[in-house]
Amino acid sequence: MTGLIKLYEDAAKQPMGKAYSLPFSVYKDAHVAELETDRIFHQQWVFVCATGALKEVGSYFAFTQAGESIVVVHGKDGHIRAMSNNCSHRGTPLLAAGFGHIGKNIVCPYHAWTYVDNGELKGVPFDTAKCVDKQRHELPKYALQEWMGLLFINLSDTPCELLESLNQINPYLQHYKLGRFTEAYAGVTERWGCNWKLAVENGIESYHLFMVHRDTLEVNTPSKKSYYIAGDANWSLTGGEIIEKRSTLSKLFNGNTPEPLNHYMLIYLPPGFIGVLTYESFDWIAITPDGPEHCIVHGGGMSEHGPAKDGKGTEAFVTAFLQEDKDICELVQSGMGSRHHQGGSLLEIERIVVDFHQYLAKHLFNAPVCSFRETDAASIFK
Ligand code: FES
Ligand SMILES: [Fe+2]
Repeated sequence: MTGLIKLYEDAAKQPMGKAYSLPFSVYKDAHVAELETDRIFHQQWVFVCATGALKEVGSYFAFTQAGESIVVVHGKDGHIRAMSNNCSHRGTPLLAAGFGHIGKNIVCPYHAWTYVDNGELKGVPFDTAKCVDKQRHELPKYALQEWMGLLFINLSDTPCELLESLNQINPYLQHYKLGRFTEAYAGVTERWGCNWKLAVENGIESYHLFMVHRDTLEVNTPSKKSYYIAGDANWSLTGGEIIEKRSTLSKLFNGNTPEPLNHYMLIYLPPGFIGVLTYESFDWIAITPDGPEHCIVHGGGMSEHGPAKDGKGTEAFVTAFLQEDKDICELVQSGMGSRHHQGGSLLEIERIVVDFHQYLAKHLFNAPVCSFRETDAASIFK
């Protein structure tokens, strides 16, 4: 174990009260990035997209994770599958990245090997001697599971259980009635110039709102009205008061809005899913690494009626404050070259960052982690 990896483990496993930021070099180091790819993005469950974004037969979402080109397809048989998006012939990515619709079949743009939407190889041009064994060339499949209308993938051959842990969140969500949200939309997909962990830490803590989002988020959901609800190394919930009591909600509930609906909830599902839930919408970003000093930030959301047609809905608002996050994360990344600092102490308001570090300690180093914690704020929701 190199010195840096040991420092990383020591920092990641500290409990709240003793916790401090990770050593700066782990946000730049190529070996650290390899370790995280191998033990997290090749082994653990990772959010893909909303099931509602693949409602139509033939719709797909193609993306890259841990160096693998992957596609999730809604097949003609009604099943949604995750499989390799690399052609079995010579590896060409089959479908263009992002959301799309396959035609009749999936046709490789290189030599036109043709696949059925379930990954079976159907046709090989010029193979008159029928020497290609079609079974051997089927596209490899990956485990896919759904929770609350969200799809998660696991690239491991022996995936661990996902839902046992996530279903423990369900009781906190009852007032939001997520089942109403069927209209999914895809938001921005951006490449940020920072390590994926910086983007995650920034996305989950509410400490920075009063500085970085002074004129956007802080106005309606200030840092000082945010709180920790529950969590551990597996998932975390935080929340906060919504200052402006919205007239639409008030009308909906005849002026008696149930108290939980005057609060937002942030749902963090490590490694990279960060969702913000209100009664009216569920918006998220999902963060994955793209080398040691870049990451992909992929937005999305769902609601009862989809994004607002006038461009003034939550989607436009999310785009505006994400620019503020991108700018600060890229600034922080530029400080990660310093060799003259250890990471600074993490405060109670950053408890959720400690949960993320515990996730890293558990999956990267097999370290023992702290037990589940729930605060009094949970009574607002349960
Ligand atoms: S690489 Fe796909 S057909 Fe040749
Ligand atoms: Fe932010």
